[in-house]
Amino acid sequence: MSVVKINVLTVPAEQREVLEQRFASRAGSVENSDGFEWFELLRPVEGTDQYLVYTRWRSEEDFTAWMEGPMKAAHQGGGEGAPKQRPAASGSTLWSFEVVQQAAPKKG
Ligand code: HEM
Repeated sequence: MSVVKINVLTVPAEQREVLEQRFASRAGSVENSDGFEWFELLRPVEGTDQYLVYTRWRSEEDFTAWMEGPMKAAHQGGGEGAPKQRPAASGSTLWSFEVVQQAAPKKG
């Protein structure tokens, strides 16, 4: 089963737009990475003020390979790797999960 990696971003209110803009013009390299299955940027509405960067991968090894290579290019603007601008997020935490069950709508 797949693994889910969620990067939890603490973003000061005045940096929210900057963060979303950076993601809007993100590298897009993740889509071409082996074993990549899903990405979502989740904006907080209720219950938390942290953004979640949800990613799902075929295996731990696929995620590690992305982290060690393409991720660095995908983070030119803010995160780890080669920060060229002031990061929009003031902090981050990586959460790891295994997918235990999943469902998708039945195609009629
Ligand atoms: C120091 C920690 C991190 C920070 C502050 C951060 C923040 C950001 C920001 C602002 C972007 C938008 C593009 C840019 O500005 O360069 C981005 C892209 C992205 N981040 Fe992070 N990030 C961090 C680490 C991680 C980690 C550990 C993951 C793994 C789940 C992750 C997943 C992603 C993905 C999938 C993208 C889109 C990449 C693409 O378009 O190819 N980030 N991140």
